[in-house]
Amino acid sequence: MIADHRNGKIAGTDNLLALLMSAEDPETGYRYTDLEIRDEVMTFLGAGFETTAAALAWTWFLLSQHPQARRRLGEELDEVLGGREPTAADIDDLPWTQAVVAEAMRVFPPIMGVARTAKANDVLGDYPIKAGTSVAVLMHSVHHNRRVWENAYDFDPSRFRKENLDGPQRRAHIPFGAGKRMCIASGFANQEATLIVARLAQRYELDLVPGQRLRRELTFTGGPDGKMLMAVRRRAISPGPADRRRL
Ligand code: HEM
Repeated sequence: MIADHRNGKIAGTDNLLALLMSAEDPETGYRYTDLEIRDEVMTFLGAGFETTAAALAWTWFLLSQHPQARRRLGEELDEVLGGREPTAADIDDLPWTQAVVAEAMRVFPPIMGVARTAKANDVLGDYPIKAGTSVAVLMHSVHHNRRVWENAYDFDPSRFRKENLDGPQRRAHIPFGAGKRMCIASGFANQEATLIVARLAQRYELDLVPGQRLRRELTFTGGPDGKMLMAVRRRAISPGPADRRRL
């Protein structure tokens, strides 16, 4: 595709690839090499697209299995939005929607784990770690640690109501990693996922088509391995308080 952009086979300029290809450092005039352009695009696709896609796929799956959580989601969306489109300004008023997204990412963290290399000798818990050792942090294990999470395998968004979360749970919810190399786009991704869930759940209910054998892809991201077929049903929006006043 880089070659096709260069030789004019692809003419569009309003896309990420074209922007990276035309980018130039204003001070030094440096332009990305083809390999750097490819690496940047791969980062956006892998880190920026697959992750949120995996988070959303599992969110729809979990909602289809938990009608009560889904009903509450619909009620919150009707109450706050009353049928109008959600915007970023609504997010603070949608605590249950946010909790659904956070809990889905706890149960099915989009990134399975991250690795670090110890710079110096250290001790982690009872384990001596030698400098140079690779240490993996498995989000999935941390998110299902029974010492921190009660009924860790159950999907229960109410854990993420602010008043219910205790300190250890806050620290043990790490879908975006932690520390210096934590996801640079966690705020954006949370906002994007919350708005997509709000916008779609406001209008539709998605039910898992029975008889599918769902498996989790065990690669860098942990989305569904293959298709996840859902039946889509339009839901009736009840007027929220703002609309009721107008009626
Ligand atoms: C639900 C969505 C997302 C999840 C769960 C997620 C998760 C993560 C995790 C676990 C890391 C590694 C942190 C570490 O090593 O400690 C990471 C890094 C990163 N993410 Fe995300 N991410 C998401 C969305 C995004 C989006 C939308 C973008 C860009 C548009 C993005 C860009 C990056 C980049 C550039 C890094 C590397 C940061 C660095 O090494 O300093 N991510 N992400």
